[in-house]
Amino acid sequence: MITIVASTNRPGSSTLKIAKYYQRQLAKRGVEANVLSLMDLPREIAFSDLYGNRSAEFEPVQQLVTATDRFIFIIPEYNGSFPGILKVFIDACNFPESFYDKKAALVGISSGKYGNIRGVEHFTGVCHYVNLHVHPMRLHIPAINKDIDAEGNPQSEDTIKFINQQLDRFIKM
Ligand SMILES: Cc1cc2nc3c(=O)[nH]c(=O)nc-3n(C[C@H](O)[C@H](O)[C@H](O)COP(=O)(O)O)c2cc1C
Repeated sequence: MITIVASTNRPGSSTLKIAKYYQRQLAKRGVEANVLSLMDLPREIAFSDLYGNRSAEFEPVQQLVTATDRFIFIIPEYNGSFPGILKVFIDACNFPESFYDKKAALVGISSGKYGNIRGVEHFTGVCHYVNLHVHPMRLHIPAINKDIDAEGNPQSEDTIKFINQQLDRFIKM
Protein backbone atom coordinates (compact mmCIF):
# COMPACT_ATOMS: atom_id res chain seq x y z
CA MET A 1 0.00 0.00 0.00
CA ILE A 2 1.24 3.49 -0.91
CA THR A 3 0.75 6.47 1.42
CA ILE A 4 1.61 10.01 0.36
CA VAL A 5 2.61 12.07 3.39
CA ALA A 6 1.83 15.79 3.10
CA SER A 7 4.59 16.74 5.54
CA THR A 8 3.25 19.94 7.11
CA ASN A 9 0.33 20.99 9.30
CA ARG A 10 0.14 24.47 7.73
CA PRO A 11 -3.47 25.24 6.68
CA GLY A 12 -3.80 25.85 2.92
CA SER A 13 -0.35 24.40 2.17
CA SER A 14 0.96 23.84 -1.34
CA THR A 15 2.34 20.59 0.05
CA LEU A 16 -1.14 19.10 0.42
CA LYS A 17 -2.05 20.25 -3.10
CA ILE A 18 1.01 18.49 -4.53
CA ALA A 19 0.27 15.37 -2.44
CA LYS A 20 -3.21 15.22 -4.00
CA TYR A 21 -1.68 15.76 -7.46
CA TYR A 22 0.60 12.75 -6.87
CA GLN A 23 -2.48 10.75 -5.78
CA ARG A 24 -4.27 11.68 -9.05
CA GLN A 25 -1.22 10.73 -11.13
CA LEU A 26 -1.03 7.34 -9.41
CA ALA A 27 -4.77 6.80 -9.97
CA LYS A 28 -4.17 7.37 -13.72
CA ARG A 29 -1.73 4.45 -13.53
CA GLY A 30 -4.33 2.29 -11.76
CA VAL A 31 -2.48 2.59 -8.44
CA GLU A 32 -4.48 3.50 -5.33
CA ALA A 33 -2.75 5.66 -2.72
CA ASN A 34 -3.75 7.28 0.57
CA VAL A 35 -2.90 10.85 1.47
CA LEU A 36 -1.86 11.41 5.08
CA SER A 37 -1.85 15.12 5.89
CA LEU A 38 0.08 16.06 9.01
CA MET A 39 -2.76 18.55 9.63
CA ASP A 40 -4.70 15.51 10.81
CA LEU A 41 -2.27 14.61 13.61
CA PRO A 42 -3.49 14.99 17.20
CA ARG A 43 -3.02 18.63 18.25
CA GLU A 44 -1.28 17.46 21.44
CA ILE A 45 0.98 14.96 19.64
CA ALA A 46 4.20 16.31 21.13
CA PHE A 47 2.89 15.38 24.57
CA SER A 48 0.36 12.60 23.89
CA ASP A 49 2.36 10.35 21.53
CA LEU A 50 6.06 10.56 22.32
CA TYR A 51 8.23 8.58 24.74
CA GLY A 52 6.00 5.53 25.05
CA ASN A 53 2.69 7.42 25.21
CA ARG A 54 -0.05 6.60 22.73
CA SER A 55 -3.36 8.47 22.26
CA ALA A 56 -6.53 6.93 20.82
CA GLU A 57 -6.45 9.71 18.20
CA PHE A 58 -3.05 8.60 16.87
CA GLU A 59 -4.02 4.90 16.61
CA PRO A 60 -5.58 5.12 13.11
CA VAL A 61 -2.49 7.03 11.90
CA GLN A 62 -0.21 4.33 13.31
CA GLN A 63 -2.38 1.64 11.70
CA LEU A 64 -2.07 3.38 8.32
CA VAL A 65 1.71 3.68 8.71
CA THR A 66 1.99 0.02 9.71
CA ALA A 67 -0.06 -1.10 6.68
CA THR A 68 2.00 1.04 4.27
CA ASP A 69 5.03 -0.42 2.49
CA ARG A 70 5.79 2.57 0.21
CA PHE A 71 5.76 6.19 1.27
CA ILE A 72 5.94 9.33 -0.83
CA PHE A 73 6.94 12.29 1.34
CA ILE A 74 6.09 15.77 -0.01
CA ILE A 75 8.36 18.01 2.05
CA PRO A 76 8.19 21.82 2.13
CA GLU A 77 11.28 23.88 2.94
CA TYR A 78 10.95 25.57 6.33
CA ASN A 79 13.97 27.58 7.44
CA GLY A 80 16.34 25.63 5.24
CA SER A 81 15.17 22.17 6.29
CA PHE A 82 12.13 19.90 6.63
CA PRO A 83 9.27 20.93 8.99
CA GLY A 84 9.58 20.09 12.68
CA ILE A 85 6.15 18.45 12.63
CA LEU A 86 7.54 15.81 10.24
CA LYS A 87 10.23 14.85 12.76
CA VAL A 88 7.63 14.77 15.57
CA PHE A 89 5.51 12.44 13.39
CA ILE A 90 8.47 10.09 12.74
CA ASP A 91 9.39 10.13 16.45
CA ALA A 92 5.76 9.33 17.42
CA CYS A 93 5.49 6.28 15.13
CA ASN A 94 6.35 2.86 16.57
CA PHE A 95 10.08 2.16 16.23
CA PRO A 96 11.53 0.30 14.40
CA GLU A 97 8.69 -1.50 12.61
CA SER A 98 6.89 1.56 11.17
CA PHE A 99 9.51 2.23 8.49
CA TYR A 100 12.02 -0.64 8.71
CA ASP A 101 12.89 -2.13 5.28
CA LYS A 102 10.14 -0.15 3.54
CA LYS A 103 10.55 2.22 0.54
CA ALA A 104 10.24 5.98 0.16
CA ALA A 105 10.23 8.59 -2.60
CA LEU A 106 11.11 12.14 -1.51
CA VAL A 107 9.87 15.39 -3.04
CA GLY A 108 11.09 18.80 -1.86
CA ILE A 109 9.07 21.96 -2.52
CA SER A 110 9.75 25.61 -1.76
CA SER A 111 8.67 29.10 -2.67
CA GLY A 112 12.37 29.89 -3.09
CA LYS A 113 14.85 28.80 -5.76
CA TYR A 114 16.15 25.47 -4.53
CA GLY A 115 13.17 23.17 -3.95
CA ASN A 116 14.29 22.19 -0.44
CA ILE A 117 17.54 20.50 -1.50
CA ARG A 118 18.90 20.76 2.04
CA GLY A 119 15.70 19.62 3.79
CA VAL A 120 15.41 16.57 1.56
CA GLU A 121 19.07 15.76 2.27
CA HIS A 122 18.44 16.15 6.03
CA PHE A 123 15.36 13.92 5.84
CA THR A 124 17.27 11.32 3.80
CA GLY A 125 19.58 10.97 6.81
CA VAL A 126 16.57 10.28 9.06
CA CYS A 127 15.24 7.72 6.56
CA HIS A 128 18.59 5.93 6.51
CA TYR A 129 18.60 5.83 10.31
CA VAL A 130 15.18 4.11 10.45
CA ASN A 131 16.19 1.79 7.56
CA LEU A 132 13.67 3.27 5.12
CA HIS A 133 15.08 2.82 1.59
CA VAL A 134 15.08 6.11 -0.34
CA HIS A 135 14.56 6.00 -4.11
CA PRO A 136 17.58 7.63 -5.81
CA MET A 137 15.40 10.02 -7.83
CA ARG A 138 14.66 12.75 -5.31
CA LEU A 139 12.67 15.60 -6.80
CA HIS A 140 12.99 19.33 -6.05
CA ILE A 141 10.23 21.70 -7.07
CA PRO A 142 11.21 25.39 -6.67
CA ALA A 143 8.90 28.47 -6.89
CA ILE A 144 5.93 26.26 -6.06
CA ASN A 145 3.56 29.22 -5.60
CA LYS A 146 4.06 30.22 -9.25
CA ASP A 147 4.03 26.62 -10.55
CA ILE A 148 0.60 25.36 -9.42
CA ASP A 149 -2.81 26.52 -10.63
CA ALA A 150 -5.99 26.90 -8.54
CA GLU A 151 -6.71 23.16 -8.81
CA GLY A 152 -3.23 22.28 -7.53
CA ASN A 153 -1.87 21.11 -10.88
CA PRO A 154 1.76 21.98 -11.68
CA GLN A 155 2.14 24.04 -14.84
CA SER A 156 5.84 23.77 -15.68
CA GLU A 157 6.70 21.14 -18.28
CA ASP A 158 9.77 20.10 -16.30
CA THR A 159 7.80 19.59 -13.07
CA ILE A 160 5.19 17.46 -14.85
CA LYS A 161 7.86 15.44 -16.71
CA PHE A 162 9.99 14.76 -13.62
CA ILE A 163 6.98 13.80 -11.44
CA ASN A 164 5.95 11.27 -14.11
CA GLN A 165 9.48 9.87 -14.30
CA GLN A 166 9.76 9.62 -10.52
CA LEU A 167 6.39 7.84 -10.17
CA ASP A 168 7.09 5.42 -13.03
CA ARG A 169 10.42 4.47 -11.45
CA PHE A 170 9.13 4.35 -7.87
CA ILE A 171 6.21 2.00 -8.53
CA LYS A 172 8.67 -0.42 -10.17
CA MET A 173 11.19 -0.18 -7.25
C1 LIG B 1 7.93 28.37 8.81
C2 LIG B 1 8.24 28.53 7.35
C3 LIG B 1 9.56 28.61 6.94
C4 LIG B 1 9.87 28.73 5.57
N1 LIG B 1 11.18 28.72 5.17
C5 LIG B 1 11.47 28.73 3.84
C6 LIG B 1 12.81 28.59 3.39
O1 LIG B 1 13.73 28.41 4.15
N2 LIG B 1 13.05 28.62 2.05
C7 LIG B 1 12.03 28.78 1.13
O2 LIG B 1 12.29 28.79 -0.08
N3 LIG B 1 10.75 28.89 1.53
C8 LIG B 1 10.44 28.86 2.85
N4 LIG B 1 9.14 28.93 3.27
C9 LIG B 1 8.08 29.06 2.27
C10 LIG B 1 7.56 27.68 1.79
O3 LIG B 1 8.54 27.06 0.99
C11 LIG B 1 6.26 27.91 1.03
O4 LIG B 1 5.25 28.20 1.99
C12 LIG B 1 5.86 26.80 0.09
O5 LIG B 1 4.57 27.10 -0.39
C13 LIG B 1 5.83 25.40 0.67
O6 LIG B 1 5.25 25.34 1.94
P1 LIG B 1 3.69 25.05 2.22
O7 LIG B 1 3.44 23.62 1.85
O8 LIG B 1 3.54 25.34 3.66
O9 LIG B 1 2.86 25.94 1.34
C14 LIG B 1 8.82 28.83 4.61
C15 LIG B 1 7.48 28.76 5.05
C16 LIG B 1 7.17 28.61 6.40
C17 LIG B 1 5.73 28.50 6.82
